[in-house]
Amino acid sequence: MFTIKRVLMGLIAVFAVIQLIPVQRTNPPEADPIVFTNPQAAAIAQRACYACHANTNSWDWYAYIAPVSWIYVDHVMEGRQKLNFSDIAASIANNAEGGEGMIQRARAEEETAGGETGGAAGSAAELIDEVAESMQKGEMPPSYYYLTHYADATMTAEEQAILVQGMRDALAGR
Ligand code: HEC
Repeated sequence: MFTIKRVLMGLIAVFAVIQLIPVQRTNPPEADPIVFTNPQAAAIAQRACYACHANTNSWDWYAYIAPVSWIYVDHVMEGRQKLNFSDIAASIANNAEGGEGMIQRARAEEETAGGETGGAAGSAAELIDEVAESMQKGEMPPSYYYLTHYADATMTAEEQAILVQGMRDALAGR
């Protein structure tokens, strides 16, 4: 009895103290936002991807509660770095540097194997291919996003195609 109470009080104290550690929940200005011509594609991207791949994301309440907030912020920062609908130029550039992304790696392997005729490294086309692949493989949105945003995360194959085509239209010529 005595020990359980102590342990509980200790846990509560730790929980309270970690709330004081500052967490950077930023929404930087949109440097180079994608301009979708198809509003349906825009809506799909916004509900399924923007939570982690745009600077305009709203932070859910659990983004304010440590230790969940640490993981949350980390995923958004990492997500924005890989693909940021608010900064297409940077996304294309990061994709060119790439190499660490698993999809990027798989693509490089395919290319050396002699298949694939994809665009030049670091093109919008390459970025869009990655987006398409991430969804087809079921890697994006990540499984944990379904836990809290099931309806937002769930996409039909048709919706995936609309998003990909919407990106092609929006980024034509880049
Ligand atoms: C809940 C957060 C979250 C959501 C929602 C999300 N992503 Fe991601 N995404 C990430 C994180 C974190 C990474 C970087 C780590 C990784 O590659 O798994 C990432 C990486 C990526 C990458 C780069 C993959 C690589 O291997 O480098 C692509 C492409 C991508 N996401 C596309 C999408 C698309 C398209 C959507 C919407 C259909 C989406 N993501 C939704 C968190 C998210």
